[in-house]
Amino acid sequence: MKEVNSKYKVLFVCLGNICRSPAAQGIFEHIVRENGMEDRIEADSAGTYGGHRGELPDRRMRNAAMYRGFGLTHRSRQVSSLDFLEFDMIIAMDDQNYEDLRELAPSVEAADKIHRMAEFLKARKMSYIPDPYYMGIEGFGLVLDLLEDCCQNLFEYICHLNQ
Ligand code: 4NP
Repeated sequence: MKEVNSKYKVLFVCLGNICRSPAAQGIFEHIVRENGMEDRIEADSAGTYGGHRGELPDRRMRNAAMYRGFGLTHRSRQVSSLDFLEFDMIIAMDDQNYEDLRELAPSVEAADKIHRMAEFLKARKMSYIPDPYYMGIEGFGLVLDLLEDCCQNLFEYICHLNQ
């Protein structure tokens, strides 16, 4: 994975950092903890848009996630070009997030850290994680189904990087 003592750092990115990416962070951290890997793998999340800075995740997402056992306590922040120095993997929820991150990347090597979350989907074939913000409650359930699948597969992918 990386040298001993150095954590592998993953940053989840969506538009507002109040629905998809904080949910991905919460689910991924839950899987990391369940597997006793907190001292090896770390996660954070951010948005390409900074208008929700400082806010907790959207109440609908917090409620839907809590129902599945995931407490979401992250406070929204905007992604920065400095994140490319700190994180090993930067994961975009949709194509617009992906393009915005590529514009922000400070170098070609940094841009190579960007992935699409849907790369890690196994249970369904979709190319992006849809924005639930203007959807009904079933939209939040769908997004959580997709994120749980992606996070489990992403966790296994990272664990295999150094084997
Ligand atoms: P997210 O959802 O990108 O999954 O956090 C959104 C949250 C807020 C807005 C759009 C999407 N917004 O336009 O304020």
